Amino acid sequence: MKVAIIGGGVIGSGWAARFLLNGHDVAVYDPAPDGAARRLEEVLRNARASLPALYDRPLPREGRLHIAASVGEAVAGANWAQESAPERLEIKRALYAEIEPHLADGAVLASSTSGYKPSQLQALCERPERLIVAHPFNPVYLVPLVEIVGSDQTPQELKARAAKIMRGIGMHPLVMRSEVEGFIGNRLQEAVWRETLWMIRDGIATTQEIDEAILYGFGLRWAQMGQFETYRLAGGAAGMRHFLAQFGPSLAQPLTHLTDVPDLDAALVDRIAAQSDAQSGHLTIPEMERARDANLVALIRALKQRNVGAGRPIREQEAELSIPQGGDLRVTARRVIPPSWIDANGHMNEAHYVEVASNAADALTESCGVTAEYIAGGNSHFTAETHVRYLAELHAGDEIVVRTQVLRGTGKKTHLFHRFEGPAGALAATVEMMILHVDLTTRKVCEPLPHVAAALERLEHAHAHLPRPDGAGRAIGEQTKG
Ligand SMILES: NC(=O)c1ccc[n+]([C@@H]2O[C@H](COP(=O)([O-])OP(=O)(O)OC[C@H]3O[C@@H](n4cnc5c(N)ncnc54)[C@H](O)[C@@H]3O)[C@@H](O)[C@H]2O)c1
Repeated sequence: MKVAIIGGGVIGSGWAARFLLNGHDVAVYDPAPDGAARRLEEVLRNARASLPALYDRPLPREGRLHIAASVGEAVAGANWAQESAPERLEIKRALYAEIEPHLADGAVLASSTSGYKPSQLQALCERPERLIVAHPFNPVYLVPLVEIVGSDQTPQELKARAAKIMRGIGMHPLVMRSEVEGFIGNRLQEAVWRETLWMIRDGIATTQEIDEAILYGFGLRWAQMGQFETYRLAGGAAGMRHFLAQFGPSLAQPLTHLTDVPDLDAALVDRIAAQSDAQSGHLTIPEMERARDANLVALIRALKQRNVGAGRPIREQEAELSIPQGGDLRVTARRVIPPSWIDANGHMNEAHYVEVASNAADALTESCGVTAEYIAGGNSHFTAETHVRYLAELHAGDEIVVRTQVLRGTGKKTHLFHRFEGPAGALAATVEMMILHVDLTTRKVCEPLPHVAAALERLEHAHAHLPRPDGAGRAIGEQTKG
């Protein structure tokens, strides 16, 4: 797919990074003399260090980036044009007049606007039926939510098509039922934001204390269950009805000023800015962005493991990704090392070698028929023994390619030897594994079903001519002898 990004600021460059890293060619237009190219480079660097780390399989090969000299050049041939220009109606009006004549039939014109309703933007267009709002959250390359909003004039088909494209780049499209100011996410964020401003103005709390109340408390809950599931639990076994009966009446004595807005006079602005400097002024914005990204990767990976919240779209997309093959042995894993896998010694912690080997064994057995349905049917593999040799250091951002030799594939026991190749193909580790085929009902070892047994045996025979790997059958005892 070809994508045009019009406006390469915070949001436009985040979109560019997400599309590029998902394999799409991207043309960016931004009138800023050189600032946009620099920002794009910075954002791409951050995105390359974080987005692939969410996946245990490689993303498609990165698309080509083109910096366009005009709107027309960027939009020509694009299937998706994402307008991310400043939030001013006259700028968007002028831009749509430039975009529309070059926009192919069937292409989507999406705006990142956070403030305008789609009907207001459609009123600026010659062909309003092609415009929708696709409202993302910063950083666009990591946060999966995108609100897809149309007006009464927007064909359902366009919203459905847009949602499909967004899912294809690992996002979670929330297709809104109707247009409303602030959509959903910003309405909620703004309610909290207003209240924080009041608390500072009234001297109730500082910027740091307010952030602590979020980080150590409900912020944790919100990433994995939203407002309603959280309160359902708060109602105990009696659930939501009980919660409403118990806490509903207290809403009549509001704790908040939510309907009012504090006057952002010079004194309040000074107070907020000074408190924010005291809280975070020792860090640069790029340092904070990198910390945010590493934390988001760790959080999203944890959610992915549980298949909830922001982890779910990653899992769904990953199921569609294949592992590119090459060479004699099957490539069973290929992945970039996430920053969260690095320990105090500055290299990949040993626990993750076993994690990667486990992914590799899963990929190999899945290719032999041990699929989710096979496992749901009551058969699987358990790991009986693992031996890891750590041969060279691996660092955050390094790509690991795992090639797996099947030393034995016949019968109940499968003997695997994984080679981990790090940068420049150097051997970084070997992981030897014995896995056993198990009946999940009796929890006892048993023969695989015939199609799986045949596939594993075929691999054993295909690898039989290869030399026995150096280090196979090694034990720690051999190293302690001298
Ligand atoms: N910042 C956020 O958190 C956020 C989140 C969601 C949506 N949005 C929306 O995204 C849009 C862009 O916001 P941003 O935060 O990236 O702003 P920004 O100021 O960082 O970027 C805007 C970019 O547009 C460029 N620009 C100016 N005039 C232009 C023109 N005529 N044609 C093309 N580009 C032009 C500027 O040079 C700049 O690089 C806005 O509509 C905003 O409401 C912002």
